Amino acid sequence: MSDLIYLDNNATTPLDPRVLEAMMPYFTNQYANAASNHRFGVGANQAVKSARERVASLIGSEPGEVIFTSGATEAINTAIKGVTEHYREKGTHIVTVSTEHPAVLDTCKYLESKGVEVTYLPVDQYGSIDLHEVEKAIRNETILVSVMLVNNETGVIQPIKEIADLAHQKDAFFMTDATQAVGKMPVDMKAMGIDIMAFSAHKFYGPKGVGGLYLRGRRPFKVKLDALIHGGGHERGARSGTLNVPGIIGLGAAAEIALKEMESDQEKIRALRDQLEQAFLQMPDTVLNGHPTNRLYNVSNICFRGADADAIIAGLENIAVSNGSACSSTKVEPSHVLTAMGLSEQDAYASLRFSLGRFSIHLDVENCISSISSIVSSLRVMKVP
Ligand SMILES: Cc1ncc(COP(=O)(O)O)c(C=O)c1O
Repeated sequence: MSDLIYLDNNATTPLDPRVLEAMMPYFTNQYANAASNHRFGVGANQAVKSARERVASLIGSEPGEVIFTSGATEAINTAIKGVTEHYREKGTHIVTVSTEHPAVLDTCKYLESKGVEVTYLPVDQYGSIDLHEVEKAIRNETILVSVMLVNNETGVIQPIKEIADLAHQKDAFFMTDATQAVGKMPVDMKAMGIDIMAFSAHKFYGPKGVGGLYLRGRRPFKVKLDALIHGGGHERGARSGTLNVPGIIGLGAAAEIALKEMESDQEKIRALRDQLEQAFLQMPDTVLNGHPTNRLYNVSNICFRGADADAIIAGLENIAVSNGSACSSTKVEPSHVLTAMGLSEQDAYASLRFSLGRFSIHLDVENCISSISSIVSSLRVMKVP
């Protein structure tokens, strides 16, 4: 993949070589089970403990509030299903948003089939939610309000502190899918009023197949859940199964690097993203999807009116960009995020997501601008009768 121009960092990021280096011993000579009580097991357990502390420092939680999972999808399923089940007596109503990731939406749909009521809030043309809509939707029987921090397709940031306050006024828990935020922007559980949060290592230069779930452990309340996966009682009974030690060490290393380099990464990536975006927006019939300012610094979602995004991607030999979210990009439907923002199907099909990262360079951006501009122009010419 060396000559690949990779601008699909919201789908997944490359592994940082420093993370790989930290993980290597746990694949080779330090392979003990972290639950074993011999010397090697105790060593693995110590390494897991320090990874947990690194993750906790990144998100402003206590180490004991972090549960390791196989990624954000598992964390989201564990939380939404587990909390709903545990607090069934309080109520069976969930509030979420129409632009959430399928990991949230499909879990909610599954629960609807089991008698849970779900309210899907709309978004405006920028993909933002209206706090009055949130306030109106939360009822006494609402157990959970789940709103993502950063949208994976547009980068739009939701006002989660205000939403958390509204949820707490009605004694509902506030959960956020922060998969696209953790490791890229400051996230602080306490300051943001978050009770439950899902995140994933492979979105911030860690390995795939490992992530975490934050569950508020105390003050002013503790969040409990019924486990999804039963077995040896690992992770305080919330997620049984032998710990993925190399993965967890990788997550910890990625968290430590993110904490140190977040500011410098952000400055560099924002400059490259802005350069790319401005060049595309100077082309005729191109529009930015998402909020112009209230948006994460690494993403740009652009509609190239009159050009089909699939055809653009097919014409790109060595540039990786995305149409719709990668997890559902095999589907032929237009992006549910863009259509919820009011885009026509045609404009949604003409939209591409560019997501930059730590390893993006100036030359990538320049090559991407020239390749995409020329493909879009020829596709538009081909359409003219
Ligand atoms: C916002 C969001 N939530 C959840 C997920 C699922 O994450 P994972 O791949 O760790 O299961 C993704 C991945 O694309 C995402 O972008």
